[in-house]
Amino acid sequence: MGKWDFDNWAESYDEDVKTDDWIHRDYLTVLKLVAERAKGLVVDIGCGTGNILGFLNCEEYIGVEPSAGMRGKFLGKHGFEPLNGHFLALPLPDGSVDTVITTYAFHHVPDEEKEDAIREMLRVLKPGGKIIIADVMFESEEEKRRIGEMDGITEEIEDEYFATVDGLKEISARLGLECRFQRVNRYVWVEEMKRAT
Ligand SMILES: C[S@@+](CC[C@H](N)C(=O)[O-])C[C@H]1O[C@@H](n2cnc3c(N)ncnc32)[C@H](O)[C@@H]1O
Repeated sequence: MGKWDFDNWAESYDEDVKTDDWIHRDYLTVLKLVAERAKGLVVDIGCGTGNILGFLNCEEYIGVEPSAGMRGKFLGKHGFEPLNGHFLALPLPDGSVDTVITTYAFHHVPDEEKEDAIREMLRVLKPGGKIIIADVMFESEEEKRRIGEMDGITEEIEDEYFATVDGLKEISARLGLECRFQRVNRYVWVEEMKRAT
């Protein structure tokens, strides 16, 4: 599972997201923003303990989560279990989903795998479906460095694979996707992607 111990984090996760640190600032606002835009059959990748379920109003919800600890915590809270899967292998048929969402999880995908992860999201999307990615992001590698230095968080930033808007625009162009970005605060962005018509 890489360097993060998500199984052990599951127990304290819901308390930790209440911390007003740079990553979790506006956490609930971000979940609400994503939930408002998610329609139809929604798949939530890296769903964790399922906090977005408090805001979603969709027809059907499927969580996908690689950590058994997170899946167990999710089950205890919501009475059903997410599927065992990850960004590069979604356990779902082609063309079956209206909206793919992911909140605070895309930064666990190494940069060189981000395009494949988006391809896998596209595989499960119905025609006309959309992808919503909410996470810590930076406009560019230059901004990532600058904010890291100004805010004294360079080490924490380098410990993760935070996407850049520049990088996601390049991937979108290669995959023929329209994308739009909303900056929620200094650190967190919401990106919406769909196939160009
Ligand atoms: C910070 S938590 C976010 C949980 C939830 N989405 C939220 O917004 O509170 C990150 C989650 O991503 C999951 N994760 C890590 N690597 C992943 C991968 N490669 N594919 C899918 N999920 C992954 C972790 O197990 C963890 O549950």
